[in-house]
Amino acid sequence: MKKYSLIVLLLSIGLACCVSTGGRKMPGSGKTPSLKDVFKGDFVIGVALNRTQIEERDSAAAVFIPRQFNAFTPENGMKAALLHPQWDTYNFAEADKIIAYGRKHRMQINGHTLIWHSQLPSFVLRIKDKDSLRRFFAEHISTIASRYDGQVYSWDVVNEALNEDGTLRRSVFREKLGEDYVVEAFRLAQLAAPNTRLYYNDYNIERPWKRAGALALIKKIQAAGVRIDGVGIQGHWHINNLPLEDIEQSILEFSSLGVKVMFTELDISVLPDPAHANGADISRNLAFNAALNPYTNGLPDSLQSRLAGSYEELFRLFLKHKDKIGRITFWGVNDRYSWLNNWPVRGRTNYPMLFDRQFDPKPAFYKVIAVKAGNAVRKQ
Ligand code: XIL
Repeated sequence: MKKYSLIVLLLSIGLACCVSTGGRKMPGSGKTPSLKDVFKGDFVIGVALNRTQIEERDSAAAVFIPRQFNAFTPENGMKAALLHPQWDTYNFAEADKIIAYGRKHRMQINGHTLIWHSQLPSFVLRIKDKDSLRRFFAEHISTIASRYDGQVYSWDVVNEALNEDGTLRRSVFREKLGEDYVVEAFRLAQLAAPNTRLYYNDYNIERPWKRAGALALIKKIQAAGVRIDGVGIQGHWHINNLPLEDIEQSILEFSSLGVKVMFTELDISVLPDPAHANGADISRNLAFNAALNPYTNGLPDSLQSRLAGSYEELFRLFLKHKDKIGRITFWGVNDRYSWLNNWPVRGRTNYPMLFDRQFDPKPAFYKVIAVKAGNAVRKQ
């Protein structure tokens, strides 16, 4: 790093740390360092955006988002249930707004997702014969991927195709199209979107068994002569179980296949999960009880600093392997907008992000920024 930019970085961090986070200021004001600027040249910093945010109907969020992030993934807006509600009916209105928002703010768009067993339109589950399903599959991928070719930077072509043991999940696609459907999805996407990067995305693929399945899947796509540019590790983690060694091993093993690694849906839950289930199976739904929602009046300091420490360790690892990583995306703008307030238990108060419910940076944010500053100082 050049001496001048190091001084600017340190000054902006120093200034930000002096500003009390308790004092009200405009979110996104110049006093808070910007993640996208701090990690410029390392990896792009993304965020999941919902419809209100994309339509810029929340003025605080509208200022805050483009200041902090230079990439985004529509949280739901490009899933099949929304985009393709019925045979021969596509609803492009929301997706077109997504593209316009990305262009306006010069943010990289990750299309999410072409083929996934969840959030499918109901007509797909009613399809009985293989040929009709194959028609849906091919038309869905070709229509959407070609319409947005080069406008979305990347597609999560296939999402969550694997079981925890690394075998292929039973889904309508696998049942009707056979084991090769993942390769076929990439083949169709490659034809329709020659100017868009193509990724496989899943949760828990940093864990050894599932990772082995993902590695085999990528090799199978490559062996068929089909393009795959990257792998997305979702990164829905829990504060009591952050698998740092597995994450590092995954970065090394995936990138040894010649694909970029992305962390695509990062968040760290701090709330009890009675089943101790890792991952992000969206069909999980546990009954609410007050014991599962202990921090409605704020996060205790001890947990706040553990969360900060977890993010610090993660970003230390990310920076160590920045040459292999393309993007880090947070699954929510701040604690208020995180899906973890409603999954796997509805109606809780979770604190998984770097920014609190008022868009103020949390201790975790400053730790993340300081990791970068520490790296810059060490390199002098
Ligand atoms: C989640 C969204 O955040 C929720 O709003 C929605 O109700 C369910 O889906 N893995 C994925 C994401 O790939 O699409 C999921 O997003 C979270 C798990």
